[in-house]
Amino acid sequence: MIFSVAIDGPAGAGKSTIAKIVGEKFNLMYINTGAMYRAVTLKAMNANISENNVDGLIKLVKSLEMHFEEDHIIVNNEDLTDMINMPVISNNVSKYAAVPEIREILVDLQQDIAKKYNVIMDGRDIGTVVLKDALFKFYLTASGEKRAQRRYEELIAKGLQVDYNTILNDIIKRDYSDTHRAVNPLTKAKDAIEIDSSNLDIDGVVQVITLRMNSEIINNKSSI
Ligand code: DC
Repeated sequence: MIFSVAIDGPAGAGKSTIAKIVGEKFNLMYINTGAMYRAVTLKAMNANISENNVDGLIKLVKSLEMHFEEDHIIVNNEDLTDMINMPVISNNVSKYAAVPEIREILVDLQQDIAKKYNVIMDGRDIGTVVLKDALFKFYLTASGEKRAQRRYEELIAKGLQVDYNTILNDIIKRDYSDTHRAVNPLTKAKDAIEIDSSNLDIDGVVQVITLRMNSEIINNKSSI
């Protein structure tokens, strides 16, 4: 049986780090759906296609072959992982992610992957739209300040020159557009388990998720 885990939550809540670790523990393919929206943003910006040029965007997205190799996103045979995490992409991705036609194509692609493989998928609409029937749904949150601090440390560690207050403001803006867009806004699925990671480190969150999944598996909800 196909086994799926949905992890949703706002930017910087630790979703990708946690999903990657839990995926390895349970032997699940990790799909970072934010990376897919980021890759479309990068390609669109490089081709000077604005978020208002819907026909141009549809044509562009259909020309992209995307897949994941471990936690790297490969688009038309090119590894875009580093480029899509640049601040310029973070600052523009919400506009492109709000285009319904882009969402439709990417959601179809995400659902196709989940039909073929056991997956752990992270994003904003996984538990509510992409994998409505996921066996496990988690909703990760943390305060805006905590999330900004983590993003700041992550970018500094990569050698980028960034400013904490700018990152915090970007997170606040992105939270607003992610939760207020017309199509598939970020919301917690009714059946998702909410985990506030403000005062938990990565191991702590992984432990909460692992315990929850193991106890359900032991109770015969499913087996991998
Ligand atoms: O998780 P992230 O920060 O890499 O996501 C980048 C952007 O993509 C984020 O602003 C919202 C959007 N996104 C989305 O709309 N739906 C998803 N399933 C994943 C990400």
